[in-house]
Amino acid sequence: MNDQASEASEVNHANIVFLTHSGADSGAEQSVVTYLSSWPRIEPRPLLLLGASGAIEPRAEAAGLDFRTLPLDPSAGATNRQERRISRLAASLIGLLRHSTKVRRVLRERSADVVVPISLKSLVFGWLAGRRAGTTVVWSLHDRVDRRYFSWFLVPALRYLVPRLVDGILVNSRSTLATIRPGRTPVIVATPAIALDPRDFHETGDEVRRVVMLARLSPWKGQDVFLRAFARAFEGSPAEAFIVGGALFGETEYEQSLKTLVAELGIADRVHFVGHVQDPWAALVDADVLVHASTIPEPFGQVVVQGLWARCAVVASTPGGPAEVITDGVDGLLTPCGDVDALAAALRRLRTDHDLRLSLARHGHVTGGLYDAAVAAPVLDAWLANLHMGAVEQGSVRGVFPQRS
Ligand code: GLC
Repeated sequence: MNDQASEASEVNHANIVFLTHSGADSGAEQSVVTYLSSWPRIEPRPLLLLGASGAIEPRAEAAGLDFRTLPLDPSAGATNRQERRISRLAASLIGLLRHSTKVRRVLRERSADVVVPISLKSLVFGWLAGRRAGTTVVWSLHDRVDRRYFSWFLVPALRYLVPRLVDGILVNSRSTLATIRPGRTPVIVATPAIALDPRDFHETGDEVRRVVMLARLSPWKGQDVFLRAFARAFEGSPAEAFIVGGALFGETEYEQSLKTLVAELGIADRVHFVGHVQDPWAALVDADVLVHASTIPEPFGQVVVQGLWARCAVVASTPGGPAEVITDGVDGLLTPCGDVDALAAALRRLRTDHDLRLSLARHGHVTGGLYDAAVAAPVLDAWLANLHMGAVEQGSVRGVFPQRS
């Protein structure tokens, strides 16, 4: 079944529009920007259609992408976990309907072949717009479909119904795929790729100096778990912790609680709250250890791949996407989600065992390098084009990267 290379070299190419409701510099959007920055240089170039202005714009700009911001009415789709009231839901649906008309216009103008909504809200207006414009609709799913990410009434709809309403599904990991029932709808596992950063990454010295955690500040990302484990494992050591990331969706209370925690643990002088950064590589360049501490299964966890490529010894939580990337003890360490003791033990091993640190970092760099966007983007491009032409087998599942044995 290894037809990836030949498929990618065929001339099939489609006119694609990626769609989101947001403008935030968060995981799903970053992953699409990375793919598009390595897209084959064939006309027509794909378009990224944003639903709001935000920090993803400078990233798209810097990558030289063709992107456009079509502002979404702020009431549209204003359904978060706290707002489940039916009246609000109705108002937001009307907003989404209106937006779908604008999106349909863009699809028609560009004679788009394929539209790829990458968020839940954009799935609603993108699906409508796509159906009305006669465009192939591919659902790009970046979150696990379970009660911890979505409201109860959405879970069955996303798991069983939506897969049957779209023409193709793009998921970011096998772990995410396991949460839906695609039926006969073709699937591609498009793992977030990285644009390999050419920087000269520091190789760990005799002692652990910098331990980095890079994630938005949110309870499920587990910064508190990390800080507790760090305090235990690095007691009496000069190691410093860098908490990189901001509170993206108004979750500022958690940030406050972390600062209180750091004071309670007596490590305030060794913990730095760096805030959101545009360039994650700068945060990783001098790091010895990268910790990924999500307390529930992470759909993919792009930062894990970045940490591996940046020659960090990576500790990540399992189950979830990171466990598909890391082989425990070879190119990183895995610890159970939310388990402070296990994380502290892993960090203690890294603190005392220089050879282990070095070996994980060296193997990790090789593993990270496998996720090169320049390899993955043409495969995804060809798959989307073939899907549009009806040349992808019903019920098939493939990956943008060759399967690891
Ligand atoms: C979402 C997921 C994250 C993943 C990213 C890219 O943000 O939460 O795990 O890395 O999408 O697919």
